[in-house]
Amino acid sequence: MDIMENLNTEKLPVHVAVIMDGNRRWSLENNKNKFFGHREGMKRLEELIETTGNLGIKYLTIYAFSTENWGRAKEEVSYLMDLLVEFARLKSKILESKGVNVNIFGSIDELPTKTKEAVISLHNRTKDNDKLYLNIALNYGSRKEIAIAVKKIIDKYKTNKEVYDKIDEEYIKKFLYSKNIPDPDFLIRTSGEQRLSNFLLYQLAYAELYFTEALWPDFGKEEYIKALKEFEKRNRRFGTS
Ligand code: FPP
Repeated sequence: MDIMENLNTEKLPVHVAVIMDGNRRWSLENNKNKFFGHREGMKRLEELIETTGNLGIKYLTIYAFSTENWGRAKEEVSYLMDLLVEFARLKSKILESKGVNVNIFGSIDELPTKTKEAVISLHNRTKDNDKLYLNIALNYGSRKEIAIAVKKIIDKYKTNKEVYDKIDEEYIKKFLYSKNIPDPDFLIRTSGEQRLSNFLLYQLAYAELYFTEALWPDFGKEEYIKALKEFEKRNRRFGTS
């Protein structure tokens, strides 16, 4: 049976957010080199982007590297930074041709120069696309994002005191990396961990949360469709009756 069968395309999320977790455990379980799971994870990411685009889901936000991930061993940080360069360089043509618009959520100035240049170039190359908006959270932390937003609002307030009366939930959103895009309505986290790990704390307020035991490198199309079928069943009330 085709795995897409019975998927109600009228009830798909508009914005999917994904915490791709479990790469190192996958390496261990499969007797691979410690970091190989990240490389295998990159393949699943490519498939995720492709399926998301094909389904007509408009926004996809993925957690590639958190502000906390700098605390990992130096070789692992370098491995991930190099993998990002590879992803940005090798995939830019295909992403461009498939109508993917790539944005980076996070402080890119602190990245190694080659990673920074590769992601900026990927962003520039795809910035006129509008089929699928792919946001890569890179050197991203939600609390830091909120702190940066507060500073920006105070800067505005210094020259325009009317800003004070404008501050409400929507106004704050304009200063987050996710400005202009709808909040995620579905969050997927793999590998059995059930926490948000400083990811999109403001934006996920009403998202449906989905946790699966599958490790990220095992999260193929079939697992994704299973997750979307689960979303279909959720009854979203947004705090109303
Ligand atoms: C978590 O697994 C994953 C990461 C910290 C990095 C996510 C990166 C990828 C999926 C690689 C491809 C992405 C790009 C954009 C090139 P973990 O290492 O925490 O696994 P563990 O929980 O088993 O230790």
